[in-house]
Amino acid sequence: MAKVTIDGIEVEVQEGINCIEAAKAADVHVPHFCYHPSLTVVGQCRMCLVEIEGMPKLQAGCSTTVRDGMKIHVYNEKVDKARKGQMEFLLINHPLDCPICDKAGECPLQDYSFNYGSVNSRYEEAKRTYPGMDRTPIGPHVVQNMNRCIHCTRCIRFCNEVTGTDELAFFRRGASTEVGIFPDTPLENWMSACVTDVCPTGALTTREFRFESRVWNLDSTDSVCNGCDVGCNLFVNHRNGQVFRYRPRVNSDVNDHWLCDYGRFSYERYESDRVVVPKVRTDDYLGISTWAEALDAIADAVQGANNLAAIASAHMTNEEASAAKQLFDSIGAKTSLMVDPIGPIKMKARTEWLLGTQAAPNFRGVSTILGGDTASDADKLMTNGAAGVDLLWICDVDFSERAKDPAVVASLRQAKFLVVTSWDANHPLAEAADVLLPGAIHVEKDGTYTNLQGTVQEIHQAYPPKGQAVVDLELFRRVSARLAAMAPAEAAV
Ligand code: SF4
Ligand code: SF4
Ligand code: FES
Repeated sequence: MAKVTIDGIEVEVQEGINCIEAAKAADVHVPHFCYHPSLTVVGQCRMCLVEIEGMPKLQAGCSTTVRDGMKIHVYNEKVDKARKGQMEFLLINHPLDCPICDKAGECPLQDYSFNYGSVNSRYEEAKRTYPGMDRTPIGPHVVQNMNRCIHCTRCIRFCNEVTGTDELAFFRRGASTEVGIFPDTPLENWMSACVTDVCPTGALTTREFRFESRVWNLDSTDSVCNGCDVGCNLFVNHRNGQVFRYRPRVNSDVNDHWLCDYGRFSYERYESDRVVVPKVRTDDYLGISTWAEALDAIADAVQGANNLAAIASAHMTNEEASAAKQLFDSIGAKTSLMVDPIGPIKMKARTEWLLGTQAAPNFRGVSTILGGDTASDADKLMTNGAAGVDLLWICDVDFSERAKDPAVVASLRQAKFLVVTSWDANHPLAEAADVLLPGAIHVEKDGTYTNLQGTVQEIHQAYPPKGQAVVDLELFRRVSARLAAMAPAEAAV
């Protein structure tokens, strides 16, 4: 450990870390562009200059490691002057088109321009531009505006050091240097949109979020990706009950600073029509009902059933899975769990690669709660059919992609009575149900998921479920209350 003094505050930090990281221990921010904690240090932008007592010149905070006894000045007149000079260089050519730039509001260059930029430029020459390169799609998700680039190389280093795909490089020389892709080699690795996170300007933005919303008009909720069992930590950015984007939330043990493209854009599926009211089938017509009518229909079906089965979902939270087990055990339903194998999806934690192999976030948690390997039971129902089952309860239509297959729907529909919870109004199982219950999507829930490492992680509700939809905990509570209210003679089924 090393004792260092940052702007008069003494802190004890790991010997050998750089001045930027050491300053964080004293809650002091060292302005920087090219430094990124998960990429190699290149010392290019010179924005991180600090004064170290005993050293005649200012030092780059990113490439200077701390030693015991060091006295570092992040904010003083000398450093301030150097920083202003550096910003003057960076802004010679930058368009400062913040009013039409998607990065505005979360852009280090914009923030530092306020703090260290000058209102007037001493340069009379016209700004250098990159004609025709102000809205260039360089991959399926990333759009480049080269005029905004400050040549920090974070994006290039990301593709070299994290994904190892090397799609991006510098081309040309001097003031004309540009970031680009090689001919016929688009930026399409599986984590390509992470370059938009590491870019400290609006030079790289995602096609999906471009011009969708100013960032300060979005609320942010901490959550976990439900794309696979890695369980990457993310922020849900949303407004008025609509998700606008997912952004990575740093967790060095799981996803570090990253999200894969599949997970990052997985919220787009929620743009499908939602189930917002319960429905009950009468005379072969699935019509809108009240919750009370739906619960009555379920209670009637449970009353007359001898052979009951339920298929849980690895999209359920641990709390929902526990409530489901309690309910289904109480009515004697055999509960199984099915999830689709995928990938593997590779995700880089700070020190290792994690391999997501299940297409749902909580296979480990739900299967532990249900106990044992129950996948074969679900598989039998889907493959051999549910004939002979008096009541089959599908807890979530997302439990398997196979559930969209008409043959599988027909198999499950063989059950005498089919209860389905779904958020997706267009899902074929929703249309096949005898009772359809409106379910919540994961950004509408509070709870926990257990990822493939066994780490229990919290998700938080970004906004309430749509219409009359409820989270599973409330759904199971209502069903349990209705069943408990049955006359003793009724309940003795
Ligand atoms: S595009 Fe962004 S991340 Fe890449 S070099 Fe330019 S400013 Fe840096
Ligand atoms: S690796 Fe899995 S959990 Fe992480 S972002 Fe991708 S799909 Fe989501
Ligand atoms: S952050 Fe240190 S030189 Fe760029």
